Amino acid sequence: MNSPFVLIIFGATGDLAKHKLIPALFSQFRRQELPEDFSIYGFARRPLSDEEFQSYFPEESMHPAWQNFAQHLSYQQGMFDEKTGYLELVEKLQKLDEKVGACITRIFYLATPPENYNAILDNLTSTKLSEGCGQGSSKWTRLAIEKPFGKDLETARELDKKLGEIFEERQIFRVDHYLGKETMQNLLVFRFANGIFDPIWNKEYIDHVQITWSEKKGIEGRGKFFDGVGILRDVAQNHLMQMIAAVAQEMPQSFSKEGVRDSRTKAIQAISCIESENVQTYVVRGQYEGYTNEKDVAPTSQTETFVACKLFVDTPRFAGVPFYVRIGKELEKAEATISLVFKQTCHILFKEIGCPEEGNVLTIRIQPNEGISIRVIAKTPGSTLALQPVDMHFAYNEQFGTQGIDAYEKILGDIIHGEQMLFNRSDELEASWTFIEKIFKGWENSPEPVLSYEKGSWGPKMAAELIEKDGRKWVKRSLDTP
Ligand code: BG6
Repeated sequence: MNSPFVLIIFGATGDLAKHKLIPALFSQFRRQELPEDFSIYGFARRPLSDEEFQSYFPEESMHPAWQNFAQHLSYQQGMFDEKTGYLELVEKLQKLDEKVGACITRIFYLATPPENYNAILDNLTSTKLSEGCGQGSSKWTRLAIEKPFGKDLETARELDKKLGEIFEERQIFRVDHYLGKETMQNLLVFRFANGIFDPIWNKEYIDHVQITWSEKKGIEGRGKFFDGVGILRDVAQNHLMQMIAAVAQEMPQSFSKEGVRDSRTKAIQAISCIESENVQTYVVRGQYEGYTNEKDVAPTSQTETFVACKLFVDTPRFAGVPFYVRIGKELEKAEATISLVFKQTCHILFKEIGCPEEGNVLTIRIQPNEGISIRVIAKTPGSTLALQPVDMHFAYNEQFGTQGIDAYEKILGDIIHGEQMLFNRSDELEASWTFIEKIFKGWENSPEPVLSYEKGSWGPKMAAELIEKDGRKWVKRSLDTP
């Protein structure tokens, strides 16, 4: 990567910039993956000098390489809905172009709460920042926009329309950082580069699929953001949909940007919507105890911090195979895992001695302790014949001595290189909002309040019942040891 770029981060003093974006860029810098000429502008409301912004990242600034990196950091104070800051930025960016003697690629990263998106987009347009240095030609700009992308289907469409009026599709990067996770990317390779999996990756062999996305932490002071959003919009509409797509998608026509995006989109479009009258049966919504005492949370809030759900993906491959998913905060463990539970086919040979209740399970562990495990049945050592399940596993750490790079490094690297494969397309987002919106409709029409659950548990009791009433249970994970 040799071409210079300037990255303007809106919301540069927020959590995302502080904990993810700047650390990811710093790490790329240390690995010498950034060009010699690059600039990062933090744009935010609070008044900071360049120097103050450079020391805004206490953890990173302890590193010996920080001073060299920090020279590339500048700050632009501005209100998102006032032109002044943007106009000042125009001048600064022009000077950069003059210094280099070329039009430097400008990347605008919207890392603010979503309510600011419209104001930022309006100001990028009215100040012509969106057009870049070749004014009138948008050749030199890119826009990265964080999730949640809208708050329902209609607002997502409106936002997309607005983006489309300002930028061409090739300039728009709709971020879902789960697509940048090493294990998510590996799933495509694992499934299609190993001929042994595809023949059994279907309803003939798979009994059901389980997906768990859990955090031990709560909302960590982000009440202002989270209470108006909830876990369904925060995590299900994006990360969960992508985990489902990673299991359910068909082999892409080609390993190209659109080939991969097509197959992801088709998988999400194939998720059967849960009609509002069935939401009570198929969806469990919970809220952890004490949530309403959190800072900036309404005392009577019904916002969900947990959702479990049974759904189906209506493709020839998966028709009739239930997907049980659960996502939540303040749960027993932090993990993101996908398990394919295969049909238990205890052979007649072993019927008499008895097979273990659970058959083969393939678990893809997105985090932590990234890896893949396969539960198989083995003979218990000893003079008598007895069977028991054992796990064979592959862990990134053991195999490669690394868990890979952080998802945001991959995401930022791809934006800088203009590579869009791991970014959402509009039709993909429309499909996921269509599914999510129906659940909200069901909740709106229902008088049932959100179910409370104990912190450190696996959510409301009904989440276990959702799967147990089908004669199944949440699998105990393997690869648990760090
Ligand atoms: C974000 C959500 O998208 O993902 C957060 O807004 C969540 O609520 C975070 O904590 C989890 O990301 P990761 O990469 O730590 O799993």
